[in-house]
Amino acid sequence: MTILVTGATANIGRKVVDHLLAAGSTDVRALTTNPRRAALPAGVEVVEGYLRRPESLPAAFDGVERMYLAPTPDNVTEVLALARAAGVRHVVDLSGEPESWWGTVCTAVEDSGLAWTHLWPADFMENTLTWSQQIRETGTVSEPYPDTATAPIAMDDIAAVAATALLADTHHGRAYPLAGPEVLTRTELVRHLATALRRDITFRRSSREETIAALTPTMGDNTTWYVDNVLSDYTPDPATLPITSVQDITGRPATPFARWAADNASRFLTD
Ligand SMILES: NC(=O)c1ccc[n+]([C@@H]2O[C@H](COP(=O)([O-])OP(=O)(O)OC[C@H]3O[C@@H](n4cnc5c(N)ncnc54)[C@H](OP(=O)(O)O)[C@@H]3O)[C@@H](O)[C@H]2O)c1
Repeated sequence: MTILVTGATANIGRKVVDHLLAAGSTDVRALTTNPRRAALPAGVEVVEGYLRRPESLPAAFDGVERMYLAPTPDNVTEVLALARAAGVRHVVDLSGEPESWWGTVCTAVEDSGLAWTHLWPADFMENTLTWSQQIRETGTVSEPYPDTATAPIAMDDIAAVAATALLADTHHGRAYPLAGPEVLTRTELVRHLATALRRDITFRRSSREETIAALTPTMGDNTTWYVDNVLSDYTPDPATLPITSVQDITGRPATPFARWAADNASRFLTD
């Protein structure tokens, strides 16, 4: 049973490969733009291609039964048609609720005729890396809503869920909202980072417009959506956040932010 991981050197795709191998998969194929640079583990079949280059896909999809689908909302319908024509049967997609920024992917997957499992992650712990430059240069994090609370999730936990969903048929037709194990305000995140980085970091309140301008160079087109929806002053009822999802699906506890921050502290200290 060949399992294809698309975007196989991306943050999540690369970890999906690792989790599949750790679970004992022996027939993992990795789609990457640059096989020589990819440095994927021994035993993985590496195939050159990219979801936004449809001509590269029929060969990559040949013989594949299941795949992890990295999000390319602009051409996802075409990608899925090629997957179906090649005989792919089950897609595990990184997307979001139909009305969200990533809803195009979710809707296209449901319309594709393939079996599917949706992964709908909360904000990534890794998104706090967008603060690294201001932390290094000013010792400050500037955002509009200090008390907004979310349950950010580690990308490694999303990958673990993806691998679990790829390896068992019991996840077909399931949409999994995914979150980390704790509800944390923006100031609490900054406090954890200060501990992990062993330095003082101050939270400074900035305007919405100032925040969009500051994040756009690193976040690109979806910055306004991110600021208005993820950093918004709306805090959901913590009881509604899926903080047990990772453990429920994979059987292993989700990564707490303090541990993620300690493990990733060095990433905040360099460009
Ligand atoms: N809740 C949320 O925040 C949420 C929800 C759903 C989706 N998302 C999105 O999910 C993604 C997750 O990040 P990710 O790092 O795992 O993967 P990604 O951004 O989806 O994929 C990046 C990978 O695509 C491939 N690629 C090939 N050509 C590229 C090019 N010209 N530009 C960029 N990438 C190219 C590369 O893989 P190879 O090197 O292997 O070819 C690269 O590593 C983010 O884009 C995020 O915004 C977020």
